[in-house]
Amino acid sequence: MTTQEAQAELKEYLSLSQENKEETEDEIRPIKTLRIPEYNKNIDTYKKAGMEAIEKGELALLLLAGGMGTRLGFDGPKGTYPIEENKSIFECLFDNLRADIGERQIPFFVMTSDKNDQATRSFFKEKNYFGYDPGLIYFFRQDMAPACDFDERLLLESKDTPATSPNGNGGFFTSLLKAGYGDVLKEKGIRWLNVFGVDNVLAKIADPAFLGAVITEHKSAAVKAVLKKDPSENVGVVCEKNGHPSIIEYFELGEELAAQRDENGELLYCAGVTVNYLFDTSILLDTAGRKMPVHKVRKKVPHIDAAGNFVKPEEPNGYKFEILITDILEFFPDFLPVEVIREEEFAPVKNLHGADSVDTARKLLEARRA
Ligand code: UD1
Repeated sequence: MTTQEAQAELKEYLSLSQENKEETEDEIRPIKTLRIPEYNKNIDTYKKAGMEAIEKGELALLLLAGGMGTRLGFDGPKGTYPIEENKSIFECLFDNLRADIGERQIPFFVMTSDKNDQATRSFFKEKNYFGYDPGLIYFFRQDMAPACDFDERLLLESKDTPATSPNGNGGFFTSLLKAGYGDVLKEKGIRWLNVFGVDNVLAKIADPAFLGAVITEHKSAAVKAVLKKDPSENVGVVCEKNGHPSIIEYFELGEELAAQRDENGELLYCAGVTVNYLFDTSILLDTAGRKMPVHKVRKKVPHIDAAGNFVKPEEPNGYKFEILITDILEFFPDFLPVEVIREEEFAPVKNLHGADSVDTARKLLEARRA
């Protein structure tokens, strides 16, 4: 991206960003989640329906691996991080896949970004595609967005290069189509996309029961959710926004709503989403190209200062622009949030230590093996 192009894009991102929109009072309400006991009652029916769809070739996977993994402080793509001795996060995810569908192989899309595309592809090759058929793995790059300082002036990475970063995980479908993979979806008759994040090492992907639930319940989108540990946990929560199923991100929920409880003492907004979604591809195709909201997020942006020195800030110094997958639900008429067992399906790797970290994920992986 040239500096001139970045200036033009920055203008566009700023005008689309929520902060610049007129303030609207969204009406937020709780929404029903399919809880574990109800889910388990029908689990055999769900598994059968899901497995039938998988056998018919109706499911594909889409791994969101374009993020920068800044909080982890690891230079390579997050998926290459050695979460266990001799085992990368990517490999863990392929193990999880095999645990669910054995040696069956289904199309596997991998979203990267300019910052990690080459390194990701090389790693897959070096690891012999984790035993998967390379002909079924489709890499594509997401878009990048320019970053600016708090006065909304473009930041530069070097004299002629704007500071850019991946533009959030919400543009996955636009980027997939840009890469020409809409044809793959159509030719192969893929009806469902299981979209998941790179950082949950316990993610159950291509889970027949989850797929069967969305099919049997006649829904067009679904997400796996865990009960929030406490009001301040960094997870988006499912809700109804202005009468429509939705997800509010943790940094936008506000302390008051986050802490509200029902008459049984349970958090009203208790279903925290793991980044494990199912989407009906016909709706994704129908709504492709529609504008999505842009979130303006305070971040640390490495840049050159007025004297031309490269600065790696310790504190947020500007804004990055992100389109979020959580906003894609606006396009879907209905939605099935499904509760799953946290210890079995949720081990996010965001930080090195502390909450949602390498340490906590390793413990959970160990507990699963025991
Ligand atoms: C994310 C979810 C949040 C969820 C939480 C659970 C989003 C927008 N937020 O929060 O709802 O409760 O995880 O742990 O999904 N990614 C890209 N490109 C980007 C940015 C991110 O591919 O430009 C990928 C990341 O590689 C990762 C996933 O999207 O796999 C989640 O992104 P991240 O930025 O880590 O989201 P969180 O704030 O942790």
